[in-house]
Amino acid sequence: MDALRKAPLRGVTLEPGADLLGFRAAVRRLVAAEIPPQRVIWSANSEGELLGDAAPATENASAIALPRAVAALIPIVVCHRDPQRYALLYTLIWRVVRGERALLEVASDPVVHRLELMAKSVRRDLHKMHAFVRFRRTEDPDGGERYVAWFEPEHFILEATADFFVERFRGMVWSILSPLGSLHWDRQSLRIGPPARKSDAPDDDAFEAAWRAYYESTFNPARTNPEAMRAHMPKKYWKNLPETQAIPELIRGAPDRVREMIEREASVPLKRDPQKAVAAMAKQAPRSLDALNALIAASEPLTPGADRAVLGEGPMRPAIAFVGEQPGDEEEKAGRPFIGPAGQLLDRALGEAGIARDESYLTNAVKHFKYELRGKKRLHKRPDPGEVKRYRWWLMKELDFVQPRLVVALGATAALALTGKPVAVTRQRGPASFGDWPGFVTVHPSYLLRLPDEAARAEAYAAFVADLRRAAELAA
Ligand code: URA
Repeated sequence: MDALRKAPLRGVTLEPGADLLGFRAAVRRLVAAEIPPQRVIWSANSEGELLGDAAPATENASAIALPRAVAALIPIVVCHRDPQRYALLYTLIWRVVRGERALLEVASDPVVHRLELMAKSVRRDLHKMHAFVRFRRTEDPDGGERYVAWFEPEHFILEATADFFVERFRGMVWSILSPLGSLHWDRQSLRIGPPARKSDAPDDDAFEAAWRAYYESTFNPARTNPEAMRAHMPKKYWKNLPETQAIPELIRGAPDRVREMIEREASVPLKRDPQKAVAAMAKQAPRSLDALNALIAASEPLTPGADRAVLGEGPMRPAIAFVGEQPGDEEEKAGRPFIGPAGQLLDRALGEAGIARDESYLTNAVKHFKYELRGKKRLHKRPDPGEVKRYRWWLMKELDFVQPRLVVALGATAALALTGKPVAVTRQRGPASFGDWPGFVTVHPSYLLRLPDEAARAEAYAAFVADLRRAAELAA
């Protein structure tokens, strides 16, 4: 132990960004030389100070057998922007190889907790990039067609997403520009290029000119950095090239095709067999929130007559998305969520918790009003689990487009929709995880309205406001 404390201080300098290979090599050498995490200073070229004393490459550095979950976490976390990512990962690896094989299962361990949060954030960023990169057609100076997209990732995920885009758009010539680097695909090989500025890919009339300027500066062989160029085309794709030539055409026409599909689908099968229709719609993979909303709007209501779907409303990328149960009578009539009595109570509580409604996204697990007629009155009827399931696909897709930082489930139906499992709200209220989304479970405001006793209502309301405040802190 004393020997470990006296181990020399080691500096490891990695490439800027996500240097997985460099990290792995350094870890092998450090473990072989028994250098504990406290004696290592990690830095990436552009991120920190260099320490002269790098781990010598000559040390006996054989591969390390790590539990599968640890091995899977490493390539994700190295993409994180936090300069401490390598130090934290090395601490985990060090402890695992020294006997704590199940360390990753100890969620309360501070190192594990931080690494899991980092992994979650990177996964979310990957997911966003997969979903939101939009290409624009342009021309290279030699007249060739090229599709160019601008994207601002939060983490160093560009290279990690390369296979995804190559696989999807392998028949196109494309570039993805970002402030952290760029990817350029020419149907055969991938080039990792330098960072770009947003003005290199503006989405207005200046696009062509700006793109040309960028192209000329970065594609000039005299200026490119050979170190940054990599052949990235797995052989398995080569044989597929001839049949992928149609992709640019398909991409260009995609928005129109989605619209046509919606119109076609909406008029026939939706009204016959809702479950089948939903499965068919899921296959259509709508590419925008508008396209998704059009599918929802065209679907069969839960109660005949209540056929106005109430769609979510609010800004994209909000701090919080609130998910309720289903629209009520007033919401159905107006076509807007949370405007009836429960909505007004929610507004009041949001105000007290310091949350701006118009900066939040509000939606429901079920998009149609389900009711029972009593005379002329339409009385709310709770959707059953099968009905919640039918709408679940939409809700998840909706959140994919909206990209909130936190999703708040208001009540049991929302929690069921978001987790896929029954949730006992009073026991499980508080922070939660909803698949890809950090979540929070609290009561539905209509529960407060139903409490018969004034004092109990005041107490429950105060607890609800406290929950909302906590959620706001988590989403900050
Ligand atoms: N209750 C909900 O769950 N959603 C609404 O939109 C209105 C009331």
